[in-house]
Parts: sequence; C-alpha cells; structure tokens
Amino acid sequence: ARLVVLVSGAGTNLQALLDACQDPAYGARVVAVGADRDAIAGLQRAEDAGVPTFVHRVKDYASREEWDRALAASVAEHEPDLVVSAGFMKLLGPAFLAAFPGRVVNTHPALSPSFPGMHGPADALAHGVKVTGCTLFFVDEGVDTGPIAAQAAVAVEDDDDVETLHERIKVAERQMLVDTVGRLARSGYTIEDRKVRLG
Ligand code: GRF
Repeated sequence: ARLVVLVSGAGTNLQALLDACQDPAYGARVVAVGADRDAIAGLQRAEDAGVPTFVHRVKDYASREEWDRALAASVAEHEPDLVVSAGFMKLLGPAFLAAFPGRVVNTHPALSPSFPGMHGPADALAHGVKVTGCTLFFVDEGVDTGPIAAQAAVAVEDDDDVETLHERIKVAERQMLVDTVGRLARSGYTIEDRKVRLG
C-alpha cells in the first residue's frame, strides 16, 4: 500500500513508519511526506530516507480553502492508498477529506473522545486521569472525532509533567500506529455506522 504521511514537527511517528516499511512483509511504503511548515525534523527524516516531500504553508494562500485544496492536490499526485496525519497540526478541511474518502487516518495523544484538540496530554494531566493513551482514527469533519481504528492505554505517573507524559504516550503511539497502519494496509478495513472493522 502507498502511504502519504503529513507532519508538522519532530516526525518520530513518521520515522517509526519509515522503519517499519523497510520490511517487505509490512506491506506498505511511504511514497511522500507533506508538511505545513519548512525546516522541521520530520522533513529531514523523509529526505534522509529518500522520500519526496512537499510543503504548503497556510499563510501562502489567500484562504484556508485554497490551502486545503493545494495540499489535497499534492497528496493526490502520489496516489495514496492511505493518508496518515501523524503530528500534523492543521485541521484537514472538507475538500481534502472529499479527495480521500475513508482513507485519512490521524493519531491523537489521548483516548478519544476524551481531550480532543491541540493539548491532549496537558488536558489529561490537568483533569487528573490515571490512565490516558492514544487513538488512531479516520478523520471526519470534526476535531479528533472520527471513527476509531485503534487505541492504546498509557498510565499517568504521579510525578508526570506534560513532557514526561507526552513522551510516554508517544512510545505507545508509535507502536499503535505501526501495528494498525500495517493491518489496514495488508488486510483492509470497513467503516460502518462509525465503527471500524479491521481486515
Ligand atoms: C504526536 O504525539 C501526535 O499525536 C501529536 O504530536 C506528536 C507529534 O510527534 N499531535 P512526532 O512529530 O510524530 O514526533
């Protein structure tokens, strides 16, 4: 399966996928990496792996919709079977989602439906939950609200701060991402009534 991965920062989730794709049995390869900003480690990781990259910055476009369409066009050029938003910090709009129906997944560092948005680990810590985690879901028009493909639980330690908690979540998140994207790629899936069935 052909994967296009979208990043906005460190790209450790991307790196986990690049590493997994080295094994021919994994059944997927990263054909391109897109970003919403330049000079991030995620783009360097793609370049180091010889994977084509593209950048679309919102501020370069007259409207958000035009950015959304331009991003979708660049992704479409690479004919993805699955688009993986992994640490991508922009909401994908209706035009983008319409271009890849049922084929865009996003990983979120909280147990949906708890703590959607940009500060999942901080919100979990502030709420005082003892267990949080990460979620892989199919992106819909909401914020972190789409049908869930996989989740992993992560304990919150008494002495955690946002950084230590998020780092612990990211360890589980990378494993969840690699395992689930591999299954989606190799065995397919169905989404019915917001429920995801893996092949
Ligand atoms: C991940 O935890 C992702 O879920 C969140 O930000 C982090 C990005 O990490 N949105 P990386 O860029 O993949 O290292």
